Amino acid sequence: MKKSSEQPWQHQAAKSLCRVGETAGLAAIAIGAAWACRRWIDSQGKAGCEQESQSEHPVVMEMSAIKNGDIATLEKLSDVAGLEEVKSELREKVIEPFTRPELFERFKLQKGGGVLMYGPPGNGKTFIARAIAGEMNAKFFPVNAAEIKSKWVGDTEKNLQKLFDEAKQHTKSVIFLDEVDALLSARGNRKIGSVTQFLQLSDGVIKTPNCLLLLAATNKPWMLDEAVIRPGRLGNLVYVGPPDLKAREAILALNLKSVPTENFSLAEIAGGTEGYSGADIAELCDHAKRAAKNRQISSGKNEVVMKSDFAQAIGKIRPSVSLVQLKQFEAWRKNRQRLSEIDDDEN
Ligand SMILES: Nc1ncnc2c1ncn2[C@@H]1O[C@H](COP(=O)(O)OP(=O)(O)OP(=O)(O)O)[C@@H](O)[C@H]1O
Ligand SMILES: [Mg+2]
Repeated sequence: MKKSSEQPWQHQAAKSLCRVGETAGLAAIAIGAAWACRRWIDSQGKAGCEQESQSEHPVVMEMSAIKNGDIATLEKLSDVAGLEEVKSELREKVIEPFTRPELFERFKLQKGGGVLMYGPPGNGKTFIARAIAGEMNAKFFPVNAAEIKSKWVGDTEKNLQKLFDEAKQHTKSVIFLDEVDALLSARGNRKIGSVTQFLQLSDGVIKTPNCLLLLAATNKPWMLDEAVIRPGRLGNLVYVGPPDLKAREAILALNLKSVPTENFSLAEIAGGTEGYSGADIAELCDHAKRAAKNRQISSGKNEVVMKSDFAQAIGKIRPSVSLVQLKQFEAWRKNRQRLSEIDDDEN
């Protein structure tokens, strides 16, 4: 088998480079090489990368690359601080159909279909996905969508197939496609291969005898191909936004659990963190705890986290999500709502 360095298109590209000569600019060199490559590809009747994909690279990712979440290490929904509405929406949409199927049967309620969590970064989408799998006691297949993508023609589809095949083998499993926009984006009128493959695979989920749940998360929902977020696929849309006052207080409490602190009101600190994401609040706590630890190193006696440590941390760490970003989500939500109302009117 010839090595890629010996492919004929490269010889032709090299010849073109010589013809361009010393006076030509970089752009001309690139164009010459590209045309040589194109001519060679045309003469072969298939794309160069497709040719390579059949020979010189591992065809699909190894199953070990699909991280298998260990059930024992997964969180539960009760570990997700605050976000009560989000949790109850997810309990009803995701967990109950599996834990109380008889009720869905009795009331002829539709069950199944995947869930897309969307919202600004750092507000617990990934954390919640783990907690859902933990709550269901299911095998967890978390996949970062960018990782499953291959530059080799057809391999992304094979990776997706492999992921679904593996998940289907377990009595209860949760597939979680994180940052799914990297995999299932719209590209004008043309459907990309991974979208077509995903649509086929997700349509088959409902027929799977084992319990398989499809979860996905994104902070760019507007990038997704419309077909992906239709009912039956990732049709259950759940907005995971910045924590409200109560949720911020709960996240503070979670991060300060069993940590020595002076007697101060968490509600008051939460009040000063409007606009902070869950991850920002975790960082604030980390900052305050480090300040107390450093104080102890300096003083040589037992110190506690003080309210002033938070005041300093808040001065240094700013909310990572901007108002403009929040407005973008709001606009997308409203637009989707409008579209679904139009759909309802038409049916
Ligand atoms: N409601 C919450 N309860 C407890 N911890 C939280 C909560 N929200 C966020 N966190 C903390 O913030 C961290 C980051 O959250 P996570 O990675 O789930 O955010 P995300 O929404 O998936 O962000 P991205 O869009 O960037 O992927 C979590 O590991 C957790 O420590
Ligand atoms: Mg995430």
